[in-house]
Amino acid sequence: MEFDQAIKELETLIGTLERDEDDRALLLLQLVDAIHRPGLELIASGDLEHPMAQALLGMYDLAPVEEHIQVEEILDEVRPYIESHGGDLELLDVDDGVVHVRLSGSCSGCAASAITLRRGVEDALREKYENFKEVVPHEAEGAEAETSGANGGPQLLQIEGLNDQQPKRKLNRPVFEDAGSIEDLASGEMKPVEVDGASVLIVNIDGEPYAFKNSCPMDDRGLPLDGGRLSGKVLVCPWHNCGYDARSGKRADDEPDKPDLAVVPIALRDGKLQVAVNVA
Ligand code: FES
Repeated sequence: MEFDQAIKELETLIGTLERDEDDRALLLLQLVDAIHRPGLELIASGDLEHPMAQALLGMYDLAPVEEHIQVEEILDEVRPYIESHGGDLELLDVDDGVVHVRLSGSCSGCAASAITLRRGVEDALREKYENFKEVVPHEAEGAEAETSGANGGPQLLQIEGLNDQQPKRKLNRPVFEDAGSIEDLASGEMKPVEVDGASVLIVNIDGEPYAFKNSCPMDDRGLPLDGGRLSGKVLVCPWHNCGYDARSGKRADDEPDKPDLAVVPIALRDGKLQVAVNVA
């Protein structure tokens, strides 16, 4: 039935019920009004989190829209962690507690993706999204074509200097190498490690490891950061006191447009740290 037509018929019906003094029908109308009016006021004011607004949306099967927003907000909280590992996270869909996401950047196709998902995303959803069932990761757009040859098998990229008979390897996937143990680094501390000829700064924030190139991007000489200090979650450069978020590497001072730290993807396996300097 058309909306305008329904309004007319409703008005006619209400007039009839009032003339007939049908108390039960009038009580029914009052109850419907008592439920809808405050709920609609909350929705109109944008307070979709309020239980009354939630209940009203749920009556019309609109709750999934709200769930999508709720899940997006939870993912916003863990994005700094994903970004600190050189990746990004996109919410594709929320379907009956199943959260479909796409990991991109260095997380895509990376052996550490499962760890990243489990630690960063699943834990947060399990804690804060009561209908949570599982996370379903999807390949980054174009990743399939990038990683598959014409026959569906792996596509191997040519490395300069190798002939066709020699083994080839993909160039743009992170290669993780050992970088010590998380036990050697207390929460709130940082230390430099040498990995494959590169100096990497490992930082422990609340038990979570993060890694960056050990050089401040504010100086062309690549001045090392390890003489700096951690002020809460802010890494302060020892040379001119620039501040960086020690989880994402982004500027955390009054000059947000200046360069961020170069993030090094990091993984934790059985207490052992591994970093991928080849994609940093
Ligand atoms: S070199 Fe880091 S702030 Fe100047």
